Amino acid sequence: MDKVVTCMAPVNIATIKYWGKRDEHLILPLNDSVSLTLDCDQMHSQTSVVAGPFVKKDTVMLNGHVMPIETNERLQRCFSLIRKLIKEKKGENCPEAQWNIRVCSENNFPTAAGLASSAAGYACLVYTLANAFDLVTEDLPAIARQGSGSACRSIYGGFVHWKAGKDDLGSDSTAVQIATEAHWPEMRIIILVVNDSHKKTSSTVGMKKSVETSELLQYRVNKCVPERTKDIIEAIINKNFVKFAEITMRDSNQFHAICLDTYPPCVYLNGVSHEIITFIHDYNDAAGHVKVSYTFDAGPNAFLFILEKDLDLFMSELIQVFPSDKSKSKYIRGIKSTNPD
Ligand code: DP6
Repeated sequence: MDKVVTCMAPVNIATIKYWGKRDEHLILPLNDSVSLTLDCDQMHSQTSVVAGPFVKKDTVMLNGHVMPIETNERLQRCFSLIRKLIKEKKGENCPEAQWNIRVCSENNFPTAAGLASSAAGYACLVYTLANAFDLVTEDLPAIARQGSGSACRSIYGGFVHWKAGKDDLGSDSTAVQIATEAHWPEMRIIILVVNDSHKKTSSTVGMKKSVETSELLQYRVNKCVPERTKDIIEAIINKNFVKFAEITMRDSNQFHAICLDTYPPCVYLNGVSHEIITFIHDYNDAAGHVKVSYTFDAGPNAFLFILEKDLDLFMSELIQVFPSDKSKSKYIRGIKSTNPD
């Protein structure tokens, strides 16, 4: 191979949150999750790969910094799973499996700020490596999952369901597409960047602490998530926005309740996040039904879902209540996104 292969992968936003692992090493989740993958216009990772006998050693650069592969178990695992696939497809002794690989990756949005950067990053890494070695395979979500759990959902566009599965080795823990992005073209996502600095407790550490200490987590995993997953998939298929929106808000709130039930607590939302939540509920109450919903990952930044027909009116009110200087907000309209700043 003497060419550079470059690919892009977008972030995905979970409406049913993945929080907690049943296997830390293989990155197998305790519960199913459901997400929407954004288009690549606004928030994406871009990764270039070059490999060959002339590359001296494996290297990974992220946003201009060298990543220490030797101490990064997740990167090592993605590399070795790709090499295993190369051997399976091209023969045990094929030269490509011995080649070193050079990777250069960049996010066009803040990294590790609760904006799903690792999802886009690992999905992009695995997808670019597969393309570089002409590997046609259905195993990409499973490999991306072992870089970062939520990355398996960014392999697909549209609406995605990551099934937790039961198998100890993870053979049934896969991401499947519920519907393509063309299924619900009126759906929009607005991202309010409340704070783009690195979060204090990473998702990986936070969810491990929750599994160890939260008494509510098992209730969520066994009782709430199975019902919600079934209902939200039905709402997506039937394009029932009110149902979709309500489940999304309830699940975000429950996820953050689990974070607070963790000991010591993981506090990801801040005062502005809570003001946004209140604003959305007031807005929906005044409208007489749910027109907009919110969800928050492991950070204070809000992801809002709304239908295209309601967007302009909502944005005009939102900008008055949350001017950029108050919340450091950037308004990004997801899927077909524009930035009104
Ligand atoms: C709150 O996928 O970043 O965004 O598997 O340890 O890398 P690791 O965790 P990660 O967790 C994402 C958690 C979340 C919810 C979600 O995206 O489902």
